[in-house]
Amino acid sequence: MKVDNTKYNINNVGQDVTLKGWVQKKRDLGGLVFIDLRDRSGLIQLVINPSSAAYDNALTLKSEYVIEVNGKITKREKANPNLKTGEIEVEVSELKILNTSKELPFEIDKTTALEETRLKYRYLDLRRENLKNNIMTKHKIMQSTRSYLNSQDFLEIETPILCKSTPEGARDYLVPSRVNKGKFYALPQSPQLFKQLLMVSGFEKYYQIARCFRDEDLRADRHPEFTQIDLEMSFINEEDVMNLTEGLLSKIFKDGKGIDVKLPIKRMTYEDAINFYGSDKPDLRFDMRIEDITEILGQSAEMFAKTINDGGIINSIVVKGGADKYSRKDIDKLTDYVKTYRASGLAFLKYNEGFTGSIAKFVDENRAFSLKERLNLENNDLILIIFGNKKIVKTSLGALRLKVAKDLDLIPKNVYKFLWVTDFPMFEYSEEEGRFLACHHPFTMPKDINTISDKEHALAKAYDIVLNGYEIGGGSIRINEPEMQETVLEELGFTKKQAEENFGFLLEALTFGAPPHGGLALGLERLTMILCDTENIRDVIAFPKTTSASCLMSGAPDTVKEESLKELHIKTA
Ligand code: AMO
Repeated sequence: MKVDNTKYNINNVGQDVTLKGWVQKKRDLGGLVFIDLRDRSGLIQLVINPSSAAYDNALTLKSEYVIEVNGKITKREKANPNLKTGEIEVEVSELKILNTSKELPFEIDKTTALEETRLKYRYLDLRRENLKNNIMTKHKIMQSTRSYLNSQDFLEIETPILCKSTPEGARDYLVPSRVNKGKFYALPQSPQLFKQLLMVSGFEKYYQIARCFRDEDLRADRHPEFTQIDLEMSFINEEDVMNLTEGLLSKIFKDGKGIDVKLPIKRMTYEDAINFYGSDKPDLRFDMRIEDITEILGQSAEMFAKTINDGGIINSIVVKGGADKYSRKDIDKLTDYVKTYRASGLAFLKYNEGFTGSIAKFVDENRAFSLKERLNLENNDLILIIFGNKKIVKTSLGALRLKVAKDLDLIPKNVYKFLWVTDFPMFEYSEEEGRFLACHHPFTMPKDINTISDKEHALAKAYDIVLNGYEIGGGSIRINEPEMQETVLEELGFTKKQAEENFGFLLEALTFGAPPHGGLALGLERLTMILCDTENIRDVIAFPKTTSASCLMSGAPDTVKEESLKELHIKTA
């Protein structure tokens, strides 16, 4: 039975109640014993008089004992405004100990324990109020999702977990097959192909709260197993998917946090996002756009002229009022920081009527005038400048923009800046693989099939939804003609045979009347992180893994018995 101790308030004074829960804290004041009793809903104070039959039992209580009490609700002498039940307490007449507890490895209401210890005892860590709230928020988001998509005629359909490994994308988690010697399943990185096939089957509107698995390097917003709010629709265009998603996000934010999402959500092309923010997921909670000053400084010094000759650019960001906040030493630190993004260095100017700084000697009167106009400079502004290869300049200034904003605390709290990033490139060059890969995935419809041989410029009907600098979702319109799909796979370097081997079932399905279709997937954890105001994805996963993808509580992954490996026809080195 659900316990809900905190439903009681001042209106219940005089009422007899039975409460159950955990002893969060006991204070023995020599006469009276006070207990903070915790259940899922929160805390309520119990008080036990020496005259009560429960008194002797109360004296034996320790933290995290599980108890049941009978008592009467009374008004507290001094209310505690921080507690939902702060105006009342319960005078206990009977107390039963339902279970005892060993001393805990850390105190529940303190967060000083090491993360390793907390992950080892995750079930105890989950007793903490904020983690519990995060998990409850995630539940709410899933409920709002189901309620909204059901109201829009979507069907919730499951797709397989044991799948075929397909190239492209992240590394797969593989599962050996016992009955098919030497063969492997792959865990799904997303239900992408299955949801497209469901459109071929004629379901028209599909969704799933889908577990996905990717064996990739972890980051604060990436986990090896995560959940997508995955959806697909037939007979639609990009507008339809965006409108639907906006409706869904509005519902999630209203239900989850009482926030009205301002619709329609702003849109920006991928090209603008990179040019002005150096990122395909710009954080628009603060301004500080990247400005191109190639023309102004281009011929002022040999190093700049050389940059331009090599096809490079000169770009800057302005830190308003930042001149007196950054010393030479601080700027050296920023230089080290941008070097991690492969920038060759960081130049700077400080404006105070005139210019000082590392490249001030190149700024003559005309250039000073142009810079002031172009960058809207005011006294005490700091201009941070990077020049060189366009991609490196944009990425490093994009990262610097975020770092400076964090350092100077320029990012407002409780502000939610949504953005659609549209017109993604069709392909993206992978230096690691030395070839072009699909920017979204190989099933994405190009804007114009006739231009896709121009890999650097071809665009896709793909879009991402971004919130506060996080990519919270992405999707595309899909290719629904087999010839076009074959052409795109060919452009990606698949021979006919390889295309057939890897995607034959999809290519064939497209020959049987595949409707126009498209969709999107939202990252459930990232949405929850933002709604719960945490930057650590582990905070929104009940049983998370460490950065090396292991579970400190259960010990997964682990070795297995030699016989199990034999059955699977596997030898380990
Ligand atoms: P994509 O790969 O962009 O698209 O994934 C969609 C969204 O899932 C979230 N996400 C993750 N969250 C946590 N940990 C991870 N490792 C992780 N990887 C991705 C992100 C991302 O925006 N099938 C396509 C969708 C489509 O085209 O419909 C897909 O998987 O928020």
